[in-house]
Amino acid sequence: MRTELMDLAVSSVADAAVAPTAPVAPAELPWGRAYLAVSPDHFRVDYVINPFMDPADQPDPERTRAEWHGLVAALRRAGARVDVLRQRADSPDMVYAMNLGLPVTRADGSEVLVASHMRYPERRQETSSATAWALARGREVVVLGADGVGPHLEAGDMFAFGGELVAGFGPRTEEAALLPLAQALGVRVRGLRITHPGMYHLDLAFCPLDERRAMVCPAAFDDASARALLDLVPDPLVLTEAEALTFCANSVVVGRTVLMPACPPRVRARLEEWGFEVVLVAMEEFHKGGGSVRCLTNPLDVVVGRDLTPVPGGEVVTA
Ligand code: ARG
Repeated sequence: MRTELMDLAVSSVADAAVAPTAPVAPAELPWGRAYLAVSPDHFRVDYVINPFMDPADQPDPERTRAEWHGLVAALRRAGARVDVLRQRADSPDMVYAMNLGLPVTRADGSEVLVASHMRYPERRQETSSATAWALARGREVVVLGADGVGPHLEAGDMFAFGGELVAGFGPRTEEAALLPLAQALGVRVRGLRITHPGMYHLDLAFCPLDERRAMVCPAAFDDASARALLDLVPDPLVLTEAEALTFCANSVVVGRTVLMPACPPRVRARLEEWGFEVVLVAMEEFHKGGGSVRCLTNPLDVVVGRDLTPVPGGEVVTA
């Protein structure tokens, strides 16, 4: 057996020497080409629900608008579609459109929005705007909890990766939301326990890049969940806690373009080596609310049967 393996190794080295082939890049993410964003007409820091927020440090309205328009333009340049919803005057955090809910297209083509049930009452009124947006477009709305009744669920904790819906829980989404979520969508939900107060949503610690690669910050999770996530991603770009706290994982990937608010040199070197183009987008004003590129955008093109493997009845796996 061992000799056979060695023969194989020798012959493939020999073949490679004769005909060197460039390594084949893993397939691009099929989703991430259409987004919902909320125009920042009333963005303020009025309360504190994460460690970045300080009402004494208010965003400047003009810079806020410039940054947001810069992001939308960069997304469109990268080839993405961006749909825009107006911000409610009573909802200063609504600009973080990722948390409005989880839009998913079922295998039969019908569209669903799993409404968020925000942990903090300060954000709960946003859900009715998200629901109205969805219903007006013929989307079914699935509600797993509302007004403090039922499990909390915030869509910034969710990503399609490897055919599963990877879901962070702890600071915002509750573990009890995972099974009804899996059942509602007919998919496998992989629950990861977030323990880092500064990475209170999964999208601050995890960013799928293509079908094999993702940025992963193990320091965000308990040991078992960090290991489970590293096992799930064939080629992880492992971030230190300090790197992740630059918001570099809170990025959006459109094909081979990565729109990033910050990119530590080591991270940039690896992304470029893997064939990604890094596009930096100024986001300082939005960091005052504790969110960045990914929080401001919500992908509308995640499809069951393509990005999520159908699992009749749904299923949850937790590390
Ligand atoms: N201030 C908002 C909150 O704490 C920021 C949301 C960030 N969004 C995200 N997808 N991580 O809810």
